Amino acid sequence: MAFNNKKKNANYISAKESRAIARENRKITQEIEKKRNRKHIPEEEYVTKMKNPENCVEFDNVQTYFFTDIGTVKSVDGVSFDVPQGKTVGIVGESGCGKSVTSLSLMQLVQRPSGQTVGGEIRFNTGDHVYNVVNTPTSVMQKLRGNYMSMIFQEPMTSLNPVLRIGEQVDEVIALHNPDMTKDDVKTRTIQMLEMVGIANKEGVYRMYPHELSGGMRQRIMIAMALACNPRLIIADEPTTALDVTIQAQILDLLRGLKDKINSSIMLITHDLGVVAEMADYVVVMYAGRVVEKGTAREIFKDPRHPYTIGLMKSKPVVGKYTEKLYSIPGSVPNPIDMPNYCYFKDRCEMCVDGCEGAYPGMYQISPTHFVSCYRCAAEAVGKEGDTKNEQ
Ligand SMILES: Nc1ncnc2c1ncn2[C@@H]1O[C@H](COP(=O)(O)OP(=O)(O)OP(=O)(O)O)[C@@H](O)[C@H]1O
Ligand SMILES: [Mg+2]
Repeated sequence: MAFNNKKKNANYISAKESRAIARENRKITQEIEKKRNRKHIPEEEYVTKMKNPENCVEFDNVQTYFFTDIGTVKSVDGVSFDVPQGKTVGIVGESGCGKSVTSLSLMQLVQRPSGQTVGGEIRFNTGDHVYNVVNTPTSVMQKLRGNYMSMIFQEPMTSLNPVLRIGEQVDEVIALHNPDMTKDDVKTRTIQMLEMVGIANKEGVYRMYPHELSGGMRQRIMIAMALACNPRLIIADEPTTALDVTIQAQILDLLRGLKDKINSSIMLITHDLGVVAEMADYVVVMYAGRVVEKGTAREIFKDPRHPYTIGLMKSKPVVGKYTEKLYSIPGSVPNPIDMPNYCYFKDRCEMCVDGCEGAYPGMYQISPTHFVSCYRCAAEAVGKEGDTKNEQ
């Protein structure tokens, strides 16, 4: 019958199939949740050692998946990179490549139970302890968040509570992390923080509601909240995307100044290469849930090797250079539920070589700090990163 011969459509799944997937997912996520919700988790399960004690964070083959009713989305699949102490690491890549999910995995804020970090280690150095965040129980995590690591979220308007005054919101953060402070001390600290982020009318702003402030001011409030407890690591997820360029420059200056003042590390997530060039010491380029290239900012900007990075650089406007039309990388990111078993960029790549149709390429090392996941670099590689997973 013609009906039976109909070719299966990869983009369609029946209600029955979806139910079966949901059932399977529940089994997997319930098991992970059960393990996580145990009463007394022994310390040796989550206290660990850094590979390099100079680092603040080490991502080691991290896998964060979303178990959805239409299949498993491998949002972060085998990501490894380090954030050295006191340095800024920029994470770039197009929308949906897993930048936010990588940082949420570090904060343990991925939407559970469907989102789970199912593999790898994220080692976080607080100075006197090293925690593997992936296995750290929620109660310990609450002490790490805010005090040691904090996040400036993507959209200040949705992250601030519209019905509470600015002062109350910043006070809450400070009071929560410093239970022995008196009310007056908390208010003094809040005013200090507002001053530190460059708000002139600090007493007035203390009493205002979020809607009374401009976008730039709201972003400053978010930064004040994030820095209230002098964290060792600041995660800034697109801190300037909603702002115009002059305010953007001010906010970046502010962030840089504050970082030096409290000597913390910054993980700066953005798709604005200009921001990265200005701020970052190291750059990590992500594509479809994987790191495709990483190195110092100089290496990535002056000597990009992965065709995707080269494409990103070409698509950036340059002052003084005339072009008819800006370059755009052809094609689009593959469907995250159904990733190919070869290089994820191959179908969009204009520089393919022999071997590209093989397994997903490992991380080839071309300098002490520069790693590229591309077969083009295989010949000149001085080594290979051992822990890159080649899942097929
Ligand atoms: N709660 C969720 N459920 C299912 N899939 C999700 C969920 N959150 C994120 N994803 C998927 O994970 C992938 C990575 O998303 P992520 O938010 O990390 O992208 P991003 O790189 O931060 O993009 P942007 O630049 O737009 O912020 C996307 O394919 C997205 O669809
Ligand atoms: Mg994001």
